[in-house]
Amino acid sequence: MRLQALHHVTFAVRDLDRQETFVKDFGLVIVERTDSRLVMKTCGGDPFAYVAVKGEENRFVGLAFTVENAADLDEAHARLGATAPSDLDLPGGGRSVSLTDPDGNLVLLVHGSQRSEPEPFYPELEHNTPFEKRRFGRNQHGRERGPARLWRIGHVGLFVKSFRTSSEWYEKMFGLIGSDIYHIPGQPQARIVGFFRMDRGDEYVDHHVVAFMQDPRGGCHHISFETQDFEAQQRTHCFLGSKEYEAIWGVGRHPHGSHIFDVWRAPDGARFETFSDTDLFRKEHGTNVHDISQVTMDAWSTDKPDRYFV
Ligand SMILES: [Fe+2]
Repeated sequence: MRLQALHHVTFAVRDLDRQETFVKDFGLVIVERTDSRLVMKTCGGDPFAYVAVKGEENRFVGLAFTVENAADLDEAHARLGATAPSDLDLPGGGRSVSLTDPDGNLVLLVHGSQRSEPEPFYPELEHNTPFEKRRFGRNQHGRERGPARLWRIGHVGLFVKSFRTSSEWYEKMFGLIGSDIYHIPGQPQARIVGFFRMDRGDEYVDHHVVAFMQDPRGGCHHISFETQDFEAQQRTHCFLGSKEYEAIWGVGRHPHGSHIFDVWRAPDGARFETFSDTDLFRKEHGTNVHDISQVTMDAWSTDKPDRYFV
């Protein structure tokens, strides 16, 4: 069985009204809103990407991946101990099975949910550099001020109680491959952070679809959505700032994965990230292991990401 993509994330949220306002300002588009549920999508054609269910407390519920074949659901039921396949009660339909990961997060595998045509995006930027001129006799295409048009959900960062237990579980269940892994200074066996990509053989995939950070709190560290380009991120950054939401970290660029990132706090406390320009790897590229004391997290700044982990 090979994972195809991250499908969606689910959170329990106490105040759905405040959350709805934020996620709309962040760039997600409403699919369904009832007293008990908020379902949001990106503009890239996915049926939905973010679900908030009304809850007594704010907490992460789980994540879902798309699989290639309906038979993968049967295989997950027979071989991995997942529930029996059943209809997915969410927009776009499809079938799903569920598992529970070592930290108690619900992990769904989904097949057959219906995509739609992507919304229109802006024309690609044409850059004039000292070395190459591409734009002549006209301005850069204009863009509206306001929420970004998000293309897709790309990755999830999880706090895990044991890095070894969680990373081994996801490797064994879904064949995830470590791209970059960090260990405690001077102790190569004591691994505590890792960025894992999907195994899709010769096909290139994002540097990571899931990141694990060992932290006793458990739950979700952040969810991340791909924007068209860095200009969309910068515009989103300014727009969210104008609404006086809490900026957590960014705009910056991660050295590992190379993506430009920008992280904001939602009303429920969750961290929402935009990203663009991520590295792509395939199975053959293997795993790099680093001493965490040698790792920088933002190539553009030496600011300590103190609020990133609060
Ligand atoms: Fe991220």
